[in-house]
Amino acid sequence: MSSKVPPIILNNGVEMPQLGFGVWQVPDDEAETAVAQALEAGYRSIDTAAIYGNEEGTGRAVAASGLAREDLFVTTKLWNSDQGYDSTLRAFDTSLAKLGLEYLDLYLIHWPTPARDMYVDTYKALEKLLADGRVRAVGVSNFLPEHLERLTAETSVIPAVNQIELHPHLQQHAARELHAEQGIATEAWSPLGSGKGILDIPAIVAIAQKHGRTPAQVVLRWHLQLGNVVIPKSVTPSRIKENIDVFGFALDTEDLAAISALNEDRRLGPDPANVNS
Ligand SMILES: NC(=O)c1ccc[n+]([C@@H]2O[C@H](COP(=O)([O-])OP(=O)(O)OC[C@H]3O[C@@H](n4cnc5c(N)ncnc54)[C@H](OP(=O)(O)O)[C@@H]3O)[C@@H](O)[C@H]2O)c1
Repeated sequence: MSSKVPPIILNNGVEMPQLGFGVWQVPDDEAETAVAQALEAGYRSIDTAAIYGNEEGTGRAVAASGLAREDLFVTTKLWNSDQGYDSTLRAFDTSLAKLGLEYLDLYLIHWPTPARDMYVDTYKALEKLLADGRVRAVGVSNFLPEHLERLTAETSVIPAVNQIELHPHLQQHAARELHAEQGIATEAWSPLGSGKGILDIPAIVAIAQKHGRTPAQVVLRWHLQLGNVVIPKSVTPSRIKENIDVFGFALDTEDLAAISALNEDRRLGPDPANVNS
């Protein structure tokens, strides 16, 4: 895969760029522009979801890029109301058609929605899509340890990825440890804390000044050095470039310790145990 971003190897041998581009809260037409700018800047992994309403814009940008399909890594997610075996297969077809792709690189269950009690059947549909070669890797998002435990007990394929909220105020030590034990890659959503406050923390600003970098670059570097997959979102061309320009410097142990000390176990988003609609 030719890109300035090094890959991580998923548990089924598939390579995934460690840094990608997220498009949550980007309207469809703007997503087309932003994804085109991201691909131009060197991103090769795009993270969308059925619920974001921008799979078509994302797909148009991918098609217009002229990049070889095998050089791209496209992720989308199954929305909660489509959970269930047959409805998942239908939703996958819809997403793939909107993206204009022949196959997907990674398909995730967006939330476990535990009160529905359908994520096991849903995951079995993902296993079928994987076996049929329609997706290269399958995984989950927002799964808590108890949901992963149940999946492992009742299905055959260990998820390649669990995409969870993760940033300096919510460092997710227990989840990361569990994922590492099980061979599941940890993918950080809202890696920059959704632009709300994290980038103004004095300790992060000080590390940025020390390296002649920006606070966003320091936070992304922290994720990368921890081994997380990151998918920062921006619709600002200069930030799109800034966020991928993170491979020419490294944080030292002192920097990493200072960021470690910022954990407050504080979520910006909802607790996955309580998301059921
Ligand atoms: N699985 C899930 O449930 C879930 C939930 C949330 C997010 N996600 C995924 O994770 C991706 C990233 O999360 P996110 O969009 O919540 O937040 P994020 O990437 O942590 O932060 C995005 C915000 O930070 C700003 N920003 C980006 N780069 C910056 C920089 N270099 N300097 C200063 N500000 C910067 C952006 O502003 P501008 O755009 O205005 O530049 C935007 O407001 C999403 O797009 C989505 O793909 C998944």
